[in-house]
Amino acid sequence: MDSFSTPRVAVVIVAAGSGTRLGAELPKAFVALQGRTLLEHSLHAVRGMRHAAEAIVVAPASHLDEAAELSLRAVGRAVTVVAGGATRQASVAEGLVTVDPGVDVVLVHDAARALAPSALFDAVVDAVLERGYGVVPGLPVSDTVKRVGEDGQVHETVDRSRLSAVQTPQGFPREQLLTAYALARSEETDDAGLVAAAGFRVDVVPGDAHAFKVTTPWDLRRAEELLTGSAAPRVGTGSDTHAFDPDAELWLAGLHWPGEPGLAGHSDGDAVAHAIVDALLSAAGLGDIGGVFGTGDPRFEGAHGDVFLTEARRLVEEAGFRIGNVSVQLVGNRPKFSPRRVEAQERLSALLGAPVSVGATTTDGLGFTGRGEGVTALATALLLG
Ligand code: CTP
Ligand code: MG
Repeated sequence: MDSFSTPRVAVVIVAAGSGTRLGAELPKAFVALQGRTLLEHSLHAVRGMRHAAEAIVVAPASHLDEAAELSLRAVGRAVTVVAGGATRQASVAEGLVTVDPGVDVVLVHDAARALAPSALFDAVVDAVLERGYGVVPGLPVSDTVKRVGEDGQVHETVDRSRLSAVQTPQGFPREQLLTAYALARSEETDDAGLVAAAGFRVDVVPGDAHAFKVTTPWDLRRAEELLTGSAAPRVGTGSDTHAFDPDAELWLAGLHWPGEPGLAGHSDGDAVAHAIVDALLSAAGLGDIGGVFGTGDPRFEGAHGDVFLTEARRLVEEAGFRIGNVSVQLVGNRPKFSPRRVEAQERLSALLGAPVSVGATTTDGLGFTGRGEGVTALATALLLG
């Protein structure tokens, strides 16, 4: 390897297994975890690496198009996708065929280790470059390990101080991994096994507890809990302004206000609801109300705030978020808001499945709100990962 130029790194992500032990209807790599498939989580980790790395995805033959689509979305550019084989080893071999000869270091990663952090991928690359041979991340075994007979009888306690539970990504100089696969005579459960069988040295480097393999439903639940507990919350802000239209009915904060002058707009002019929608979309990175709902869309002509709020909630939840809370302030002379504040909060909270607080203020006669020309609403939304 030429240590003076930037090393070329490829990551083969094996995602072609069926996931028998997980027992889902879909192949395991396509099962959702907090709004993203396991495969997408793995691709995001590759995208987040300090080393630039090319991803190669090995998928079930039945899911090649879906894998290509997900990969494009996760990485932001087209990714090589190939069909896997009957065993993990056969799947890795299919991926290796597509590795460019100019690549220096190849990492092999189980899509099922969906929460392996980018830093672990980088640490493996660094160690391969430094040592010139393969490395695998591993963790010390903390349980006492027994060797047992087929009948369940305990024969001995294994010295666990010399044991390591190994994970992926496992990294190797490209030629060593290709040689090992070319020489392969046995079926191994990991790549290090084959590389060592071919006579190359392989070391263990410190692994990461997050790189555990999602194998059973319990593992999937653990991964869900880790994500909901640790993902950084996201905030978004939104505002909306509408002019009064005395001929219209007033709809505000999802409520009908009989006898009050209404607000002009393509929909019902509910500035409170629209500001909340913008705050939610912004927090989720989904754009804004104009881009998502479109003023030309006949479905939303004259629609009330509940239609927009329900759809915004669906979109942010589909993107893997949960609404933490929303705070919104109405700025204007009318309607007098406080008598119906609790009712408005209850209505909005029910629509969003999260606490919504609503305040109101006037502007001391200043500006267009002070002159009674219209109202503005300002909203802040908090989303939890
Ligand atoms: N894998 C693969 N091709 C196979 C078998 C496994 O690409 N023929 C991949 C899986 O998609 C997974 C990784 O190898 O990302 C580790 O395998 P494992 O956790 O055993 O996954 P499955 O074989 O899908 O699950 P199970 O053994 O429960 O059926
Ligand atoms: Mg398997």
